[in-house]
Amino acid sequence: MAAFKKIGILTSGGDCAGLNAVIRAATEAATGRGWTVLGLRNGHLGLLATPPDVVDLTTDVVRADLLRAGGTMLGTTTTGDPFAFPDADGRRRDRSGEVIAAIKSLGLEALIVIGGDGSMRVFDRLLTPAGIPWVGVPKTIDNDVPGTDYAVGFFTAVEVVGEALDRLSSTAASHRRIMVLEVMGRDSGFIALFGGVAGGADVILMPEFDYDLDAVATHVRRITHNRPGPVLVVAAEGIKRPVGDGKEGSSIGAAIAVGLQTRTGFDARCTVLGHLQRGGSPAVFDRLLASTFGVHAVELLAAGASRCMTAWHGGTAVDVPMEGVVTGPRFVNAGNDLVRAAKSIGTYVGESV
Ligand code: F6P
Repeated sequence: MAAFKKIGILTSGGDCAGLNAVIRAATEAATGRGWTVLGLRNGHLGLLATPPDVVDLTTDVVRADLLRAGGTMLGTTTTGDPFAFPDADGRRRDRSGEVIAAIKSLGLEALIVIGGDGSMRVFDRLLTPAGIPWVGVPKTIDNDVPGTDYAVGFFTAVEVVGEALDRLSSTAASHRRIMVLEVMGRDSGFIALFGGVAGGADVILMPEFDYDLDAVATHVRRITHNRPGPVLVVAAEGIKRPVGDGKEGSSIGAAIAVGLQTRTGFDARCTVLGHLQRGGSPAVFDRLLASTFGVHAVELLAAGASRCMTAWHGGTAVDVPMEGVVTGPRFVNAGNDLVRAAKSIGTYVGESV
């Protein structure tokens, strides 16, 4: 068992819904053990500030409202790799030593890092050689962190996609249009897959599986009996551009819409959902995941564990070694239950599945 006097918590990488809920749960669990908790602002940037940019996290600060609040009260960053930090003159400098010195000067004996696979890699490189105990909590709308079924923030993004498809379906029906919804996810198709199935999409295009726009057009004609009709297409931002699409400047969703309109003669429109998937209040499952993970991270530190990440497997919170996480990212595979379900329901999910 390990008893700490003071630990730090930070959020790193792109924001998502549920980060505040993790901060709240971890703070309550840690202060309940008599530990002092410092929130480090803006990821590692707060540790590079002079003096370090921190906030005392007490039960008063992390009241229940935080459970509902979107974003992160600590701020975050996606820039400024501490091993190659951009100086004002544009040159890059290794400032990792300063990060470690700041952690020590603040008297922090352990850290909870709420981040995606990229942040886990950076903090593993920073904290592990310095011998600072740390536990990661996975978060990202992309759900591409290896080692866990779900990351905090993912289900909120899926809810947003599902709601967008519900709304698009009525306007698609009124105008007998093809509606293409472009969703985030970077190089992984989890948001497209889960959101597409939840919202009843007719076509789901994911980066993991090749698609053929002629085959998609044939599918569209078949399900509409060759007449203009409502069709919902979900396109992940990371899919390859359609062959022969010369419009490099347009969004991938717009390119798919144009390609389908040309091939079918049916009217098509595109909506790019963008950062709406990251903002706002967390969905119920993200609140549960965040609360469980926040408490579990503290339990792991208390048990003397380090260099591991909280994870969700088979309906329960477990922990996985960081070695299996820093290899990321994770992708949808053809054996995924939802891929098979989508296919059986009659959704086009690609040529190779
Ligand atoms: O990784 C989360 C994510 O929202 C991706 O889905 C998306 O590609 C990217 O971040 C957007 O990053 P930014 O907010 O920096 O534009």
